[in-house]
This record gives sequence, structure tokens and C-alpha cells, in this order.
Amino acid sequence: MSTVDVRAPFLPIQFNLNGKSVELNARAGSRLLDVLREEGHLFGVKEGCGEGECGACTVMIDGQVACSCITLAQTVEGCDVTTVEGLPGRVGRDVHPVQHHFIQEMGTQCGFCTPGMVLSAVALLEDNPAATREEILDGISGNLCRCTGYVKIVDAIERAQAELTR
Ligand code: FES
Ligand code: FES
Repeated sequence: MSTVDVRAPFLPIQFNLNGKSVELNARAGSRLLDVLREEGHLFGVKEGCGEGECGACTVMIDGQVACSCITLAQTVEGCDVTTVEGLPGRVGRDVHPVQHHFIQEMGTQCGFCTPGMVLSAVALLEDNPAATREEILDGISGNLCRCTGYVKIVDAIERAQAELTR
């Protein structure tokens, strides 16, 4: 739940969003989650718990995963921010291999956790291309899924890993 003062003025924030330089407006105290959805129209960023516990709102900031529900928008000034919408451009393809294999392996059901889960997987594989299955499980431990049971998610990440390291 945002506690931003709706009387506060909008201030511009400049940063790179999915590979493009942008300037979005946010009130002081605004959450990055709200700015990305309401100003950036990036609806792959989901709000689940709103408290940094479920990972549905995961984005990448300078290559590191972060919960956008507990990140103040002003703190990304000058940073590189990636949402699920920007992942294909990260590898110069129409679909990122992690996204492709989530579909192939049925690693998504209702899909609510999927953008955050995929972003955590991509960040993990960029940081540790040879991650073991245990390390993959650890890498997605901040992302909760109530549907899939995780096995197909980890299978999908391993398939993507094999493709990315071929
Ligand atoms: Fe941000 Fe749950 S909505 S961690
Ligand atoms: Fe439904 Fe993960 S696919 S919460």
C-alpha cells in the first residue's frame, strides 16, 4: 500500500527503462511499482503483497533484482531498470529464452508470479551462467508461486540455461 502524499508535487526522474532513456514523473515518496505501471504503462510489474515478500513486483536495477513495491521511485535516477517487457531486447530476440522455456515447460499457470520469476531467473543466469539446480532454486527463493509447485519453473530455467550457454 502506497502512503504517498497526493498533495506533493510531481518531480521528473530520468533513467534508462528497458534500454531507452526516459523521464517519468513521480510524487516524492512514490513507489517504483506505481510509477512503472501508471506512468510507464508497464503492466508486467505486478503488485502482490506490497511488502517485499512475494516477488511479484520484481524488476532489475543495474542488473540486480529488486522489489519495486519497496523501492522509492526517486532512487532509480540514472539507473538501468528492466521489466519483463524489456527482456527480449536484452538478448536481441523476440522472446527471451527464459520466457520461451517457461511457455514450453508449462512453468506458468495463472501467470501472476511469472514476470517476477522470469526476471529473477534472468538475473541469476546473467550472474551465474553455470548455476546448479540448487542455485537456481535459491535464486528464485524470493518469488512465490501458488500454482505450479516450482518443478516446471526450475525445469524451464535449466532449459533456458542450456540454450544460453550453447
Ligand atoms: Fe512487491 Fe510482493 S508486491 S514483493
Ligand atoms: Fe500462478 Fe505462479 S503461476 S502464482
